[in-house]
Amino acid sequence: MRTVHTLKELRAMLRGFRQQGKRIGLVPTMGNLHEGHISLVRKAREAADIVVTSIFVNPMQFGATEDLDTYPRTLIEDQERLEAAGSTLVFAPSNDEIYPQGLARHTRVIVPEASEGHCGASRPGHFEGVATVVTMLFNMVQPDIAVFGEKDYQQLAVIRKLTRDLMIPVEVIGSPTVREGDGLAKSSRNGFLTEDERVIAPIIYRTLKNTAEQIRSGRTDFATLEQEANEALSEAGLRPDYFNIANSLTLKPASPDDSELTLLVAAFLGTTRLIDNLSITR
Ligand code: PAF
Repeated sequence: MRTVHTLKELRAMLRGFRQQGKRIGLVPTMGNLHEGHISLVRKAREAADIVVTSIFVNPMQFGATEDLDTYPRTLIEDQERLEAAGSTLVFAPSNDEIYPQGLARHTRVIVPEASEGHCGASRPGHFEGVATVVTMLFNMVQPDIAVFGEKDYQQLAVIRKLTRDLMIPVEVIGSPTVREGDGLAKSSRNGFLTEDERVIAPIIYRTLKNTAEQIRSGRTDFATLEQEANEALSEAGLRPDYFNIANSLTLKPASPDDSELTLLVAAFLGTTRLIDNLSITR
């Protein structure tokens, strides 16, 4: 497995693979890889001959008060894990490689509707940053397929829409959330949790499951269910950002007639913001 840091090196490597007729897969990450990321690489391996894993902590998707500076950067360990998982190539560019003129002067990609509400409402500009860097990665790697985690449900919706709208010839594949034994979704941010917070954190998935159970048993009073879920999270010591019951396709508030629903949650535990979701069919 090779690691390259510049677009020039990346393109040279990919040219060779393309000449050999290889199918190229991309797994975009911000590094500090855990089992969730590794499952994305494995999925990409099933669908492609060559897997490029990008590692770039994208400053454009962090708000001014967010954790850009403390976001864990663990390139050496990530390389070892990626090699074991069967990634062919790691692309780990610097900020200057991606944003040579700086963030303020860089062209941005805005994805209407999919970026609205949920995390889009609480993290203004976040999905603009994600959409911009993912579009650039698609252009740099020109993959046949790209794999993203379903844990970031809204992000996946944003990426699917930008791919369709900008007619980018890549197949976007979603990969199921990987969880700890107690249900907590694997996340690089779990490492920020104190021991006590880590004990509390699985309440997020339990609350999703409880709410899904209530809906399956026939409840359609979604606003009340959302309020009850927020209360359950608050009582456990979290500070809910949102708990929303949405139409899985549009991500708009669910109506009682919808058959495909997704429950989306974001909550703070101490200073750590955790997200999760659960989709159900009625
Ligand atoms: O999900 C992530 O890790 C990031 O948002 C992504 C898709 C790599 C873009 O920076």
